[in-house]
Amino acid sequence: MVNLTDNCLDFSQEVYEPAEDSYLLQKSVRKLAFGRVLDMGTGSGIQAFEAVGCKDVRTVLAVDVNPNAVNILKSKVKNEHINKLRVIESDLFSKVEGQFDTIIFNPPYLPQDKVGDKKINDLALYGGKNGYEVIQRFLNQSGEHLAQDGAIILLVSNLSGLSKIKEIITSNLFGHELLEEISLPFFEKLYVYKIWNSDVRKALISRSVSNISFLAKGQRGLVFKGKWKKNSFVKTHLAKDEITDVAIKIVNPKSNIEFRIENEVNCLKKLNREGIGPRLYFYGQGYFVMGFLEGLKLPEFLESEKKLISSDKLSEKSKSVLKEVLRQCYVLDKLGISKEEFHRPIKHVMISEDLKVTLLDFERCHNSEKPNNVSQFCTFLAKLNRINSEELFELAGKYKKSYSIEDFNCILGAVERA
Ligand SMILES: C[S@@+](CC[C@H](N)C(=O)[O-])C[C@H]1O[C@@H](n2cnc3c(N)ncnc32)[C@H](O)[C@@H]1O
Repeated sequence: MVNLTDNCLDFSQEVYEPAEDSYLLQKSVRKLAFGRVLDMGTGSGIQAFEAVGCKDVRTVLAVDVNPNAVNILKSKVKNEHINKLRVIESDLFSKVEGQFDTIIFNPPYLPQDKVGDKKINDLALYGGKNGYEVIQRFLNQSGEHLAQDGAIILLVSNLSGLSKIKEIITSNLFGHELLEEISLPFFEKLYVYKIWNSDVRKALISRSVSNISFLAKGQRGLVFKGKWKKNSFVKTHLAKDEITDVAIKIVNPKSNIEFRIENEVNCLKKLNREGIGPRLYFYGQGYFVMGFLEGLKLPEFLESEKKLISSDKLSEKSKSVLKEVLRQCYVLDKLGISKEEFHRPIKHVMISEDLKVTLLDFERCHNSEKPNNVSQFCTFLAKLNRINSEELFELAGKYKKSYSIEDFNCILGAVERA
């Protein structure tokens, strides 16, 4: 049933004939499948049938995007009266509801191929331009459907970009382990991985955090976004059961710079009492959860304001934001905390639409007898070329000797006049 069009060889209605990859994965399914099972990309149904035969398996849902494969399998299930097995058509999880103890996937894993100038359309083989795109979509959606102590059994090839796949696994807060591997002709290797919720992910789920997705990588930490349903154990301004966006920070496992989460947690606790920093909601072993901030980073904000005014003076909004950053720097100085990075606050100050200023990232913060937050920020202000830098350095030098409110107010005055 191959359709030949002008620019495409279309095999998309073909049902995948079980091959080496299917048999390798089947071995792990036999050993590991339990509870509620999902067989993603079921094709002929080989993995689903294997799971049906496992004594610890309660139910099996077989899913495929290919309607032809789904219809053939549905008839088979009906004719053979296989009550444990249900079959649906779905693009990955789009029509799938609920959670599963075992999720099996033998995905299309090859990079998109061509014959001459003709694209080959084959849903069973090609996983996207690089080979890993379908796997990436699958892993990014899996977290919401994997039971807390469940496992994903995934087949991949060395042709699908193995290091990228491992990165995707880690960035979804999953752990992984190699179960099986075989070599095929022409230097191809196949691997079966077991993938599970990492301890941090489990802890977050048990504390009602869902929709966890990777946001950003820092030198020391990884930041994720999630949704948190507030429970009664945490005191916040939120109502019970209210759902809010949160940011989650964990140690970057690849970083070789020492980073102690507790240090940032303790710092945030202290600063939250002064109304500084994102609101800390809760924390546990290796992670903490805080309010999610939306807005512009300070340089983006200043740039957007610059575009709005024709003169080379600072806009009133910019002045008010810079003065607020200075004020918070002054509070840090008074608390004897050095945040560091204020001479280059590229990612460390967030401005919301209503001009609320929030300092971010307290990874490097430490106690200091001579804190340098205000003076570092003056170095940044001088580089803006809007404030007389000689005057600024003189005022910053004077302030650093006294840390007095009078000398600090002189710095604010210089910003006001800019
Ligand atoms: C390599 S075959 C595996 C078939 C079978 N599970 C096996 O082990 O032999 C990949 C299967 O994934 C299905 N598939 C591809 N993209 C999909 C998607 N986005 N959603 C669901 N199934 C998909 C294909 O139609 C095909 O049946």
